[in-house]
Amino acid sequence: MKIRNLERRIVIVAMACLLSLPMVSQVPLFPTPVEVRKAEGYFMVGRNLQIGSNGGYAALLAGKLGEELKEVSADTRASGEVFLELNELAGLPDEGYTMEVTPAKVVLKASSAAGLFYAKETFLQLAETAGGKIRCCRIEDAPRYSWRGFMLDESRHFFGKEKVKQYLDMMASLKLNVFHWHLTDEPGWRIEIKKYPKLTSEGAVGNWHDPKAPAQFYTQDDIREIVSYAAERHIMILPEFDMPGHATAVCRSYPEVSGGGEGKWEGFTFHPCKEETFEFISHIFDEIISLFPSPYIHVGGDEVHFGNQSWYTDPEIQQFIKDKNLGNEVGLEHYFIRRIADMLASKGKTMIGWDEIVDAGVSPEKAVVMWWRHDRKHQLVKALENGYKVIMTPRRPLYGDFVQYGQHTVGRFWDGYNPIEDICRFPEPIIHLAQGYEDQLMGLQFSMWTERVADEKRLDFMMFPRLAAVAESAWTPAKKKDCSLFMQKLPKFLKLLDRLGIYYFNPFQPDATPEPDAPDKDDVLKNG
Ligand code: ACM
Repeated sequence: MKIRNLERRIVIVAMACLLSLPMVSQVPLFPTPVEVRKAEGYFMVGRNLQIGSNGGYAALLAGKLGEELKEVSADTRASGEVFLELNELAGLPDEGYTMEVTPAKVVLKASSAAGLFYAKETFLQLAETAGGKIRCCRIEDAPRYSWRGFMLDESRHFFGKEKVKQYLDMMASLKLNVFHWHLTDEPGWRIEIKKYPKLTSEGAVGNWHDPKAPAQFYTQDDIREIVSYAAERHIMILPEFDMPGHATAVCRSYPEVSGGGEGKWEGFTFHPCKEETFEFISHIFDEIISLFPSPYIHVGGDEVHFGNQSWYTDPEIQQFIKDKNLGNEVGLEHYFIRRIADMLASKGKTMIGWDEIVDAGVSPEKAVVMWWRHDRKHQLVKALENGYKVIMTPRRPLYGDFVQYGQHTVGRFWDGYNPIEDICRFPEPIIHLAQGYEDQLMGLQFSMWTERVADEKRLDFMMFPRLAAVAESAWTPAKKKDCSLFMQKLPKFLKLLDRLGIYYFNPFQPDATPEPDAPDKDDVLKNG
């Protein structure tokens, strides 16, 4: 009888092993590397490692692993246990790396500093998820896209320096490399501009839920600190200064540049033809450019029609449309965008705009398009056909303010919502639209609008674990991406979030991590 039970147990255990084979053969890495070849044996972390490098990151790696750094030089690396080798002659792809793990040592190799940085992140993730016992293997890895982004809207709600740094850390671990910072919009202006102090003394007052909330913004010192924190993690920060619409906080502070607007859209646009407006914007650009080394500045350009009612009646604006032969108010909007593209080009920067700018007739040398209107696929195609480089962030599935589970009660829906699986699968369902234009696709990003995200707990909940799927779709090549395997190993990422104390939605046990409270319960936006 006892033997029978034992046999039965052996069979059950054997079956369980077989059933879980895909899981155990998966490397617990987010995002999944291009190529992993496993070998026999393990490398053990956590016993007086020697770490050396000819390209940096040795001290950083030692610190993260809780090891004392015992440097090894390149010539003695045979005896070193972990060596980070920067070798430009190795001809590895930009941001790519290799990693060789044997029982005696680990060699991380890259031809660029970014590649070596990512090699180090891979090693850290393996050490973390494998509990210090790393399976021997050889990894060859490089990203699918050069633009692997995340956008945070801090105008609607402000989260502050520490939260941003925590997310920059998470981005680095996931090999995401662009932080698009939406710093200006209707409820608040969030960046100190020395020439125009009212932008923060008045414009930074209020948020989406409370127009009287005390002013919250980043000083220029804060910005410098965050830009350099990001750069250390190979993350570029793309600042956004939204115009000519979504300029309410500016127009509240400096009504002389306001283009009017009605009702809830009062002061929504810049005045589109006063020279004073362009001088004002130019001065702000100068300060923004002095703070952000990014070659790009995002200028919005979206949804101008929401609040340009006064353009139709203002005699000065109407005369301007006639004098310049612009045809109508839309022609005027396009004129505004072309002027801004030229202004930025004259300052050595390339404009990025939401996909409305495709119709403005800007030269593709001067602008990059962010495709966001998932219901207007033709706008993506038009951007590509017109020669623009494109970053994809369609509302479905890449807007983080859409719910990720059908029973959630706060957030957006639009003929469905944005579960993690859809993010992982992206861009395959639409990639045929870019056929022949693949070189113009710079990449993709997850965009987190925060009208319905008022605190850190909800922000974390809307971000995670979906950000891991964003990394998977931005980094892992289509041929190597398997979303069902990704979902199988996702619990390892959830464990990591547990250890970091980050709240998240658990797609396997939706009731285990309930939706956090929100100021407006049941604040659902459908198809808008
Ligand atoms: C946008 O969502 N208005 C770009």
